[in-house]
Amino acid sequence: MSDDRLIVALDVPNIIAGMDVVDKLGATVSFYKIGLGMLTGGGLALADELKQEHNKRIFLDLKLFDIGATVEAAVKGIAKYELDFLTVHGDPNVVKAAKEGAADSNLKILAVTILTSLDRKDLNANMYKPGNISDLVVERADRAFQAGADGVIASPLESKRIRDLVSSSDKLIVTPGVRPEGAELGDQKRISTPSIAIKNGSNHIVVGRPIIKSSDPKAAAHNILTEIKS
Ligand code: C5P
Repeated sequence: MSDDRLIVALDVPNIIAGMDVVDKLGATVSFYKIGLGMLTGGGLALADELKQEHNKRIFLDLKLFDIGATVEAAVKGIAKYELDFLTVHGDPNVVKAAKEGAADSNLKILAVTILTSLDRKDLNANMYKPGNISDLVVERADRAFQAGADGVIASPLESKRIRDLVSSSDKLIVTPGVRPEGAELGDQKRISTPSIAIKNGSNHIVVGRPIIKSSDPKAAAHNILTEIKS
């Protein structure tokens, strides 16, 4: 199996477009992220097919947030699909409920700390406590680990500080916002290269557009894999 440190974000609208990307990438990529954008286009069915029929690993990026009983019930249902990673928001009660729902399965619960689309002004509007965003992200990660999260989603800029936390040993750090040198940034701002993310302690990097929008997705994925291996 290929190097599963690279997770490709299947940010396409439906199963047909998703299978097209997977066919192009072939054995080069073994781990895919499926998120809310494909939910109404058969995302869960594609996740199931890729896992069961194509032997791929699957990260379901649903960023769940609700009262504990509802999160637990939702995760219990998702756990039956035998997928690999699921995201929830990093509030300790949500993480605890998700872990209850995932008990008796191999599904890893990853906590989203603070969405990278939010700046300090947004946090004020959301009544977050004062402070530097990076510090808050590290504190949220620490609390999520203590609540039992198997890992966190963190930008390449925070992965080093999170890796240095005592509570992060044996925990996963999964990092989006990764761009090979010279690639288009799109709407990503807090970015770094694949090799720096891995060096900073991330276990997996999540890359979407630089691969799926490339004229040669297989070569783009191959180049990233070569970079993180070196
Ligand atoms: O195309 P690109 O490489 O920017 O895609 C990154 C993927 O990671 C997208 O699916 C995006 O939703 C996701 N993501 C992110 N930043 C976060 C959490 C998730 O870019 N903080």
